[in-house]
Amino acid sequence: PTQEFGLVGLGVMGKSLARNLANHGFNLALYNRYAKGSEEKVAERFINEFDELKTAKGFEDMRGFVQSLEKPRRVFLMVNAGKVTDYVISELSELLDEGDVIIDGGNSHFTNTERRGAELAEKGIQFIGTGVSGGEEGALKGPSIMPSGDKTAYDKIAPYLEAIAAKDKNGKGCCTYVGKGGSGHYIKMVHNGIEYAEMQLLAEVFAILRYNNGLSPNVISTILEEWNKGVLSSYLLEITYKLLKKKEGDKYMVDIILDQAGNKGTGSWTTESMATLGIPATMISSALFARYISAFRTKRTELTAKFDFKIENQSTTEVEDLKKAYLLARLVNHQQGFELIAEASSRYEWGLNLSEIARIWTNGCIIRSGLMETLIDTLKNSTSLLLSENKEKLSSELQALRNIATVGINSGISMPCHLSALDYLNANLYNHPTANIIQAQRDFFGAHTYKRVDAANGKSYHTIWE
Ligand code: 6PG
Repeated sequence: PTQEFGLVGLGVMGKSLARNLANHGFNLALYNRYAKGSEEKVAERFINEFDELKTAKGFEDMRGFVQSLEKPRRVFLMVNAGKVTDYVISELSELLDEGDVIIDGGNSHFTNTERRGAELAEKGIQFIGTGVSGGEEGALKGPSIMPSGDKTAYDKIAPYLEAIAAKDKNGKGCCTYVGKGGSGHYIKMVHNGIEYAEMQLLAEVFAILRYNNGLSPNVISTILEEWNKGVLSSYLLEITYKLLKKKEGDKYMVDIILDQAGNKGTGSWTTESMATLGIPATMISSALFARYISAFRTKRTELTAKFDFKIENQSTTEVEDLKKAYLLARLVNHQQGFELIAEASSRYEWGLNLSEIARIWTNGCIIRSGLMETLIDTLKNSTSLLLSENKEKLSSELQALRNIATVGINSGISMPCHLSALDYLNANLYNHPTANIIQAQRDFFGAHTYKRVDAANGKSYHTIWE
């Protein structure tokens, strides 16, 4: 055997990761099955395309691929999550030996990762599930990597993953041993949930400026580009101001693209998980459902055509208000996301380090941002990011968020993520009990009992209501 690191799956992400590994001087074995209905040697053709791959070897048969690898064998999978991953793992596990390591870099559900880890452990094969974020370019130039599983397995692959990861501000790799079990895939899932809400917030900022203020995509782009120079800087803001400028002929791309959002499932998994764990990451679920509403395009078109309501333009929104509102909503989104991770960590006994998770999310990944940089410190103390806010700043941002929400509500522009942030803030920042009514209702119809404000003993009480 001559090759030190194996990679299975030469899709877009797999190819980029392979080139990244090769650029760091690693000797690779690359496996891709024959493309359907053809005898085309995908791996070989890919190897011939790039100089950095000249020491790599390509395979279409799994046995040859495995035999080419030095022991302990390290095999990174970049294949479709779900059945394909199971299939490849079962094929590989017949050929690997005790002490070899399989790494799954797909967006796998964390419970599948835990199951696969346990199944492989029975055969003595070690398993690492890892989140990989950054898209095609990130995978090539440096992604954020979120591995979890057996620590001794991680130690065998750490030099490879840490070398190819993006670098944080201090030059340290955006890759860390996240924790046990499926915790790496779990935090990647929440990363994507946070990503959904960040994307939706930007879509809403666009909607207000375009449909209420009547600005062109080009002017909106200039505003967002300005924002990106300050505390709001983020990768998603950057791509948004860039995409707004793009034209096809004399039309803006955003006017050509159908408003019907796709998704690959991680946002719905995050929403399922928050419901299971009892954590109100309301902005993530709002962003998910906004995508779902958009998906029913025919229904929406029918209704808009029948009633022909027009956006009721309000006086022009102050851009400064919008900026502050967006800033505050982003803080709420990050607080909710990290609270979900904290709860999962305690429930599943993962012992996750939130500050370190923020650190590996400061570069390479889709939600990298100026805000994330500040969270490395904030999260050392608490997940309640709002607690470290200054009152004056918070009340001015809150007022701005209210102003923006009012514009959305009165004009007819849907802005679920900003509204959900505002509602969360109203519920958390003001004392106006409502759950007392819920508890009384529960006790009334079902004798479910309640606790009293004047009883410190935590005892449960029941009243005969009629
Ligand atoms: C990343 C992205 C990546 C991918 C998701 C997006 O971190 O690099 O999150 O994982 O783009 O598949 O998910 P949807 O297709 O559900 O939007």
